[in-house]
Amino acid sequence: METWDALRARRDVRVFAPRPIAPCDLERILEAARRTPSSRNRQRWDFVLVTDRERLRRLSTVFSGAHHVAGSAATVALVGPVDDDEWTRRSIAYDMGQATMSMMVAAADLGIGSGHAGVGDQDLLREVLGLPADRECHWLVSLGHPADRPLRPMRFPDRRAFEDVVHRERWEGDG
Ligand SMILES: Cc1cc2nc3c(=O)[nH]c(=O)nc-3n(C[C@H](O)[C@H](O)[C@H](O)COP(=O)(O)O)c2cc1C
Repeated sequence: METWDALRARRDVRVFAPRPIAPCDLERILEAARRTPSSRNRQRWDFVLVTDRERLRRLSTVFSGAHHVAGSAATVALVGPVDDDEWTRRSIAYDMGQATMSMMVAAADLGIGSGHAGVGDQDLLREVLGLPADRECHWLVSLGHPADRPLRPMRFPDRRAFEDVVHRERWEGDG
C-alpha cells in the first residue's frame, strides 16, 4: 500500500480473525516503533510483544476498553519509565503516541488491523508482563487481521470537517 492509502485505510479494529500474523510482519511493525522519533532521541520506551492466548486474555482485563486484546493475534505493550515530573510525563506521552501511530500505519500498510487500549490496572499489568516497579505500561496496541472487512482507504472517515479543524495563519482563519 502507498503511505497515503495506509493512512486513509487505518481504523481501530476490535474484532480479529483467528489467524496469526506472519513473524516478518510483526517484526516490521516493531521496527516501525523502534524507528519512531522521540524527544531528544531519548527513546524512553520498550515494546513487549504478547502472542500467548492466555496472557492476551489476562491483558484484556486491565481496562474496560481493552476487551479487544483478548482476541488479537498479537498485542504490543508500550512500556516506559515511571516519572512524576509533569513535563517529562507529557513528553513521554507524546513519544508513545508517535510510536503507536508508527505501528498502526505500518500494520495498515500490511493489511493488518490495530486497536488502541488504555491501561487502568497497572499492578495487574505489571504482574502479567513481569514489569519492574520503575516501569509502567502506557498503552496496548492490539493487532490482527480484521474479522469484518479488509482495510481499504475510506472516502468519508468519521472526522470533523477539514475547514472546521484547519486554521490558516490565525485561529479565526482567513475568511
Ligand atoms: C489516546 C487514545 C486512547 C484510546 N483508548 C482506547 C481504548 O482504551 N479502547 C478502545 O477500544 N479504543 C481506544 N481508542 C481508539 C479511539 O476510540 C479511536 O481511535 C477513535 O474512536 C477513532 O476511531 P477510528 O480511527 O476507527 O475512526 C483510543 C484512541 C486514542 C488516540
